[in-house]
Amino acid sequence: MPDHATTEDKLTAAVHAARAAGILLKQGLDQPHTVRTKSTDTDLLTEIDLRSESAVLEALRDRFPDDAFLAEESGGTVEDSGTWIIDPLDGTTNFAHGIPFFSVAIAYVDASGIRLGVVFDPVRDELFQAVQGQGAFLNGKSIQVSETTNLNQSLLTTGFPYAIRTAKDNNLDHYAELALRTQGVRRLGSAALDLAYVAVGRFDGYWELLSYPWDVAAGMLLVAEAGGTVSQTTGDEPPRFTGPTGISVLATNGRIHAAMLAVLAQDGGDPS
Ligand code: IPD
Ligand code: CA
Ligand code: CA
Repeated sequence: MPDHATTEDKLTAAVHAARAAGILLKQGLDQPHTVRTKSTDTDLLTEIDLRSESAVLEALRDRFPDDAFLAEESGGTVEDSGTWIIDPLDGTTNFAHGIPFFSVAIAYVDASGIRLGVVFDPVRDELFQAVQGQGAFLNGKSIQVSETTNLNQSLLTTGFPYAIRTAKDNNLDHYAELALRTQGVRRLGSAALDLAYVAVGRFDGYWELLSYPWDVAAGMLLVAEAGGTVSQTTGDEPPRFTGPTGISVLATNGRIHAAMLAVLAQDGGDPS
């Protein structure tokens, strides 16, 4: 982090940017959208994704011109000196259908890992934030993961790749197995909020295969700082983000981590 900007400065800027983008999302929810597709027929893009991304980038670039940026819609690079990783609208499918469950996710990473993460749900006005080593917070109040110790009493959440129709490992097998062993597995449609909900103890665990850094970076820090455990679905340490490459994340309250790894290993938890 350059010495002229403290972590506090970066966090303040990230929170402002997420709130500003959140206003755009909330205002845009009930408006008609231009919906295009990206990688597959089910991978949607609205004009609000783009407007939100521009708003976040503009705010952060103005304030931190020397930082690198990796944003979902405009790309970019990851530099060890410091990179903002941005999902301007996590939950586009929900948004495009008028379902009020989506978020803005902003993380800052450098050679020391994920330094800060902000996930904002503008509909519920819930702002989740974490700074490495300083705990996780929801609307200013400290949050912790749940205390559930077994799968039988756990509520989980997951997601599926946009290439669900063609991907060799589309997560449906893991979904079926864990649905049978738990109180349920939700598919809410915003990975960043899924992770934030693990951090605040609403869910006991989350997993998903081959997510992008912008989906998970902020939420991974939230879970870790709320006392949870974050690994790859193989159990390995999460790799450093180096660009827009897929990462398969398991994030839990820690207490059910081994049990979930055991189930995920049954079908080979690493699809790469
Ligand atoms: C998607 C959501 C979804 C997850 C997908 C993501 P997007 O992000 O986080 O929950 O299952 O893998 O791509 O496209 O709405 O930003
Ligand atoms: Ca996303
Ligand atoms: Ca997105």
